[in-house]
Amino acid sequence: MKDKYDLKLPKEVYSGVDAMQNLSAILAEYGTTKVALFTDAMLRKLGLTQEAEAVLQAAGVPYEVIDDAPVEPPYAAVQALADRFRGMGADLIVAIGGGSVMDAAKLCSVLATTDYTVKDLLDDPKQAQKYVKTVMVPTTAGTGAEATPNAIVAVPEKDTKIGIVNNALMADAVILDVKMVQNLPPKVASGPGVDTLCHAIECFTSTKANPFSDTFALDSLQLTLDNLEKSCFDKDNLEAKRAMQLASFYGGIAITAAGTTAVHALSYPLGGKYHVPHGVSNAILLIPVMKFNKPAIADRLALAYDRCIHGDAVTVDQKADAMIERMEQIVVALKIPTKVAELGVTDPDIDFLVEAGMQQQRLLVNNMRPVTPEDARALYEQII
Ligand SMILES: NC(=O)c1ccc[n+]([C@@H]2O[C@H](COP(=O)([O-])OP(=O)(O)OC[C@H]3O[C@@H](n4cnc5c(N)ncnc54)[C@H](O)[C@@H]3O)[C@@H](O)[C@H]2O)c1
Ligand SMILES: [Zn+2]
Repeated sequence: MKDKYDLKLPKEVYSGVDAMQNLSAILAEYGTTKVALFTDAMLRKLGLTQEAEAVLQAAGVPYEVIDDAPVEPPYAAVQALADRFRGMGADLIVAIGGGSVMDAAKLCSVLATTDYTVKDLLDDPKQAQKYVKTVMVPTTAGTGAEATPNAIVAVPEKDTKIGIVNNALMADAVILDVKMVQNLPPKVASGPGVDTLCHAIECFTSTKANPFSDTFALDSLQLTLDNLEKSCFDKDNLEAKRAMQLASFYGGIAITAAGTTAVHALSYPLGGKYHVPHGVSNAILLIPVMKFNKPAIADRLALAYDRCIHGDAVTVDQKADAMIERMEQIVVALKIPTKVAELGVTDPDIDFLVEAGMQQQRLLVNNMRPVTPEDARALYEQII
């Protein structure tokens, strides 16, 4: 625990039924003259941008749509989007999408300049400056990217993913409208939902955990344990979906204040080299890493158990085991693969995974139990 807490929040958050209608007040408040609407073609086809576009039209604010932000974007694709965006003359970005769209949009808000490129930011994220305000509207639940100063890009030449972190990437406004997640197909709800679970438990067991991050991590954990399965399997359960939307947002806030740990660190090379979706690669590593960490985090797992589960476990050891078992139960119930072979990765390059995983020191330093290359190898061996 440390005494200086890094809590960062978006300046405005609108939530609840019809939250999207607040976009018109945001446009007026910011004196917006032109909007760049970031999304992906599928989301636009599903009608998820319709209400925002109607608000923009009613307000008489011109807008251009960028609907080809790629899933889990490589950095060069983000640079291409930024080059297009720069020519548009927009003074507000509205991003409607999952973590991929939001991260691309966040980066474009700091790339409306020719002073540096996204590649330069990979080398030195400190130079990022915000040129255009941003409104984040998440459609998955989720990455919590709407609440973080992070943007994650794939770096193909290194076969991994890297997080660019700078306060300039924080959203100015966030709109959590339940309509965005109410028709999430179970497949799109489950991976990002386990990502939320990982954010909550990793932040709660991070070396940087503190009373502020704990508040958000525990609320996120409780909401996720109570609602993730329902939100995936009960398509009419709007309350569970709304709860997961909040859980995801709280998880993002916990990330800003504490940071994720070895699950996320070891997961990035799986995404970078084998294109395993972010939520799935985390889900695969969650239980092995929690079991590995248990000697160092049993007290924290027991605290989480007391707060969220209220079962009949008595000792710290029993409570820690029960907490891990409950998380495992969720991963199994959601039918997320537990081995990379189930995703077609039959002969993974473990030497590469160990080397690339160990490079994620930004996150590994948050892990309560130090991870050696031998530990990383043993963890990767469990998931092949
Ligand atoms: N910036 C951060 O703090 C942060 C945190 C965690 C993860 N991430 C990044 O976010 C990305 C993953 O984002 P994600 O898990 O939200 O998924 P995603 O944005 O990659 O989207 C996955 C798929 O789901 C579809 N989809 C999204 N919303 C939908 C909806 N409402 N209905 C139907 N389909 C929908 C998309 O069109 C896409 O095909 C990764 O690149 C990951 O590294 C960022
Ligand atoms: Zn994540």
